[in-house]
Amino acid sequence: MKKRIKIKDLLESTDFGKEINVKGWVRTKRGIKTIAFIALNDGSVIHNIQVVVDITKFDEKTVKFITTGSCIGVTGILTESQGKGQAVEIQANEIEVYGTADPASYPLQKKGHTLEFLREIAHLRPRTNTFGAVLRIRHAMSFATHKYFNDKGFYYIHSPIITGSDAEGAGEMFRVTILDDKNPPLKEDGTVDYNQDFFGKETNLSVSGQLEAELTALALSEVYTFGPTFRAENSNTPRHLAEFWMIEPEMAFYDIHDNMDLAEELLKFLISYVLEYCSEDLRFLNNFYDNDLISRLKFIVENKFVRAVYSEAVEILLNSGQKFEFPVKWGLDLQAEHERYLVEKHFKKPVILTDYPKEIKAFYMKQNDDGKTVRAMDVLFPKIGEIIGGSQREENYDRLYSRIKELNIVEDELWWYLETRKFGTVFHSGFGLGFERMILFMTGLGNIRDVIPFPRTPRNAEF
Ligand code: 4AD
Ligand code: MG
Repeated sequence: MKKRIKIKDLLESTDFGKEINVKGWVRTKRGIKTIAFIALNDGSVIHNIQVVVDITKFDEKTVKFITTGSCIGVTGILTESQGKGQAVEIQANEIEVYGTADPASYPLQKKGHTLEFLREIAHLRPRTNTFGAVLRIRHAMSFATHKYFNDKGFYYIHSPIITGSDAEGAGEMFRVTILDDKNPPLKEDGTVDYNQDFFGKETNLSVSGQLEAELTALALSEVYTFGPTFRAENSNTPRHLAEFWMIEPEMAFYDIHDNMDLAEELLKFLISYVLEYCSEDLRFLNNFYDNDLISRLKFIVENKFVRAVYSEAVEILLNSGQKFEFPVKWGLDLQAEHERYLVEKHFKKPVILTDYPKEIKAFYMKQNDDGKTVRAMDVLFPKIGEIIGGSQREENYDRLYSRIKELNIVEDELWWYLETRKFGTVFHSGFGLGFERMILFMTGLGNIRDVIPFPRTPRNAEF
């Protein structure tokens, strides 16, 4: 057989009359008299290529085995299509059936399926137009992330997945242990003796690579991490995963304003990149799921984000006359409904909020002189709410130390973090962009379970 050509390349080809080979999965087969039309897809692009089969030239068995979901290879002549809706098609000379798919049991027959149903068959959903589009956009955004930072001279740092500290201080961690769960070694006071565990101490899956990113930023100046993070928060919402990916830049010599500028530029770059390189996937999602998607994406790229402080946001919410499910009061954290009101109803633009009360933010954030607020920043997006969380970091040893004590954080877990404030400390900043929240925004889909191939959420770790 000839060398395989991807459908993406064939659809752009004008090599009519040439013999080529394609391989892929059959989406549909329909026929009139002695001709069969096969829509074939290999995932390289959202579109199928049409394969035209003169049934009289093939044995009956081969044709019978070509059903929705089967995998085939076709060698044939590339021709200009007579039919509507496609420019090129293939007149089949040889067909090889690699894998059949029994029509009675293959779950992805032609009819439309709900996203909820597709979640139950996450092993097969990459074969749908929707998930093909999501996965290609996910790839493009990963690549664009590395491109953006590389072009700016940032270094990609691999922060550890297993850690002995709680970067967010929220205690929502998955434990990593090899101790016998039925009979763990105990200390004299009856508690589990993690001294005898694999690492000789309690360890967990990382909730954020930030602390390690800070250590390296205080040497390489501008760095970023991009890896999986884990949160054992029992949040069954359309915006929370127990395992999600985070992009975390960390920069020495950046204050909160530099940090906001970087966040805005990164978000706009990622959106522009996907608009340029994934236009067909976006058009599909725009048509089937969210008619405002492409115009919303363009709107973000073209408009400056609003910058405001938390106290101002609370005032706006209190004066809005709007009924919210959760209370609004200075000192309380903002909920997604509040964030979305600010973005969608009030400012009608993405918003970067800064200077939150210190009680609702993590220990490492730079304390303002008012004694009440910290130099935190959250970027709020339409339809999503918080898409980025970050801050300028507390670089002063004494102030950081007293905050750690105030919050009863075990100092032993963070001695190395504190030491960077002893040796050559300097002002620095960083943030975390939730990768799946960004893909939610990019795709216009409504549930975060539909933008990661195999979601992990409370009571769900299938596949
Ligand atoms: O606001 P968060 O918790 O900030 C941090 O973890 C900092 N250490 C980041 C930093 O400054 N380097 O999380 C950052 C972002 C959120 O804005 C949100 O987009 C996303 O991560 N995120 C989640 N995404 C999906 N599922 C969850 N459970 C998420 N929790 C946070
Ligand atoms: Mg946050």
